[in-house]
Amino acid sequence: MNDQAKVLRRLVSQQKKQERQGLRVFAVTSGKGGVGKTNFSVNLGLALTDLGHKVILFDGDLGLANLDIACGVTPRYTLEHLLNGEKTIEEILIRGPKGIGILPGGSGVQDLANIERERLIEVIQNLSKLEGLGDIVIIDTGAGLGQNVLNFLKAADDIILVTTPEPTSLTDAYGLMKTLQRNHSFHTINIVVNRVIKEKDARDTFKRLESAANRFLNLPLELLGWIYEDVAVGKAIMKQEPIGISYPHSPAYQCIQWIASSVSGIYLDPPKQAGGIRGFLTKLLRSF
Ligand SMILES: Nc1ncnc2c1ncn2[C@@H]1O[C@H](COP(=O)(O)OP(=O)(O)OP(=O)(O)O)[C@@H](O)[C@H]1O
Ligand SMILES: [Mg+2]
Repeated sequence: MNDQAKVLRRLVSQQKKQERQGLRVFAVTSGKGGVGKTNFSVNLGLALTDLGHKVILFDGDLGLANLDIACGVTPRYTLEHLLNGEKTIEEILIRGPKGIGILPGGSGVQDLANIERERLIEVIQNLSKLEGLGDIVIIDTGAGLGQNVLNFLKAADDIILVTTPEPTSLTDAYGLMKTLQRNHSFHTINIVVNRVIKEKDARDTFKRLESAANRFLNLPLELLGWIYEDVAVGKAIMKQEPIGISYPHSPAYQCIQWIASSVSGIYLDPPKQAGGIRGFLTKLLRSF
């Protein structure tokens, strides 16, 4: 992107920020499962916390809730207690690394959500009540497009669709966008390409998705960023600690920090896979 475009985007973003009252809700989703949503959501939350935001992570994966495990916390109460009316949002909210807020999911919530769908919709519609507790909510949704996921996506201000360069992941991402369009979602879809070896992989993957979306769906897409394939991610998951805590200098976390900067309206050049990390951090610090 040229410098002028960058300045313009920054101005627009600052203006939008001023217009926006209080809370901003991001839904992180994917067509195919296992593409890296939870790892991305947690670490995006940490990177945004470092940029001065008050972040709440919402475990929207009602089938296989695991955001708490990724954050290394053991919740006493979960969304299950919220949905069945036993506890309030404030009572189930726990604090994770860097003081990040976590609304944990619970096993068995899937069954409950089927019975208490109305209640879930009410909770989603009342997300704005979290305003006093944070300024950014990140919902880590389950994969695919069940009714619950669709409700989360509709309630969000911004949708972040995570895909990998794999053809199956791309096909499923396209399927998800098609359903979104059918449901009259007017969101711009922000794409994050995970597990890339080099920048070109991400750009090629994005181009493929974008040309299909433009031709058949008339949906606007934006490449929010990419994350390098990085052994640190698996190692951190084994430790039940986010990479932002265990491996803050890893290429994957540097990419997520870069994406967090864009989300905050600071546009920097992307980190390079090898050797560029130090330069990237220097630029990040200089931008304050
Ligand atoms: N950038 C990366 N580099 C290497 N491995 C990665 C990367 N991102 C994710 N992974 C691996 O992919 C696996 C799935 O990640 P994660 O649990 O975040 O995906 P998910 O989309 O949340 O899955 P689900 O759909 O089951 O909720 C993890 O085991 C992790 O080690
Ligand atoms: Mg997950």
